[in-house]
Amino acid sequence: MKKNLTVLMAAVLAAASLAGCGSSKPAETTAAATTAAATEAAATEAAKEAAAETTAAAEESKADSASEGTAEIPTDFTTITPGKLTVGTSPDFAPYEFYHINNGNPELAGFDIALAQRIADDLGLELQVVPIDFDGILMELQNGNIDLGISGFSPSPERAQTFDFSDIYYTGGQAFVIRKADVDKYKDYEAFTGLPVGAQNGSIQMGLAEANTPNANIIGLAKVTDIVSELVSGKLEGAFIETAVAEQYIKNYPELQIAWDVPYDTEGSAVALKKGSDLAPAVNAVIKNALADGTMDEYIATAQELASDEGNVFEGQLDENGKAAAN
Ligand code: ARG
Repeated sequence: MKKNLTVLMAAVLAAASLAGCGSSKPAETTAAATTAAATEAAATEAAKEAAAETTAAAEESKADSASEGTAEIPTDFTTITPGKLTVGTSPDFAPYEFYHINNGNPELAGFDIALAQRIADDLGLELQVVPIDFDGILMELQNGNIDLGISGFSPSPERAQTFDFSDIYYTGGQAFVIRKADVDKYKDYEAFTGLPVGAQNGSIQMGLAEANTPNANIIGLAKVTDIVSELVSGKLEGAFIETAVAEQYIKNYPELQIAWDVPYDTEGSAVALKKGSDLAPAVNAVIKNALADGTMDEYIATAQELASDEGNVFEGQLDENGKAAAN
């Protein structure tokens, strides 16, 4: 019985992880049905039979996946805490990462968080997300306190000298944001000479500010949330922000608007890893599958929906009581 149960569990795990990689809806149903069947079967003498069925289901879903060209997840990786995947993120960046307030409780949300969960699930690890200001994430990675940085990271050539990056999982753009009332006043970067222009500390937007508005008074702030509120209140005249994030903030602050797009060479977001990390192949396999089976698109759609749930979005760090302080 014990042996059967072990075989059964292995089969269930295999089916579940395969289901996670297959085309989402039918595969999820298969996984749920399989798990329910397994729990019942384990309590009866029919365990052996069920195990055989489960294996058959796993084989079937394996065949499905193979025909879709699903990448197999390597298993030879290590994490800083065995059994756990520790991920650093800066939740000031809807729809990538933010807090969605569910019945008064702030819950981490966003397509980066969904991707982090998917990576943990597919690698058979428990996800642990550590909220860190953006400019501290790479240091925590370097110091071995987190396994991955998933925070809308642009894999810039400068960073790539010190860190490894996964394949691109999302392609966005860069924007220059101003107050709507100033559209006639600010027609080009020249107009910002001597004026305060914001960007997030440690972000590639600081580089964009230095390259495009070298004569402005460039102000680095820890959180995009702060950049937005200073722009609204008039402490800043312009700001460099990721396009998808700018668009999301503008929904809540209609007094702002994107003045123009900002070209950037290393477009797209990637997962940051410590140089030489053995997690890279597994992370890339999950990204490949999530892009191929359409689940990444679902993560993005859900993130945008939650980020637009007016009054229930918090961007920044929670206070010491785990509460979303007023912005
Ligand atoms: N893509 C930019 C960078 O890599 C900004 C990312 C900021 N992320 C965040 N969660 N605040 O520098």
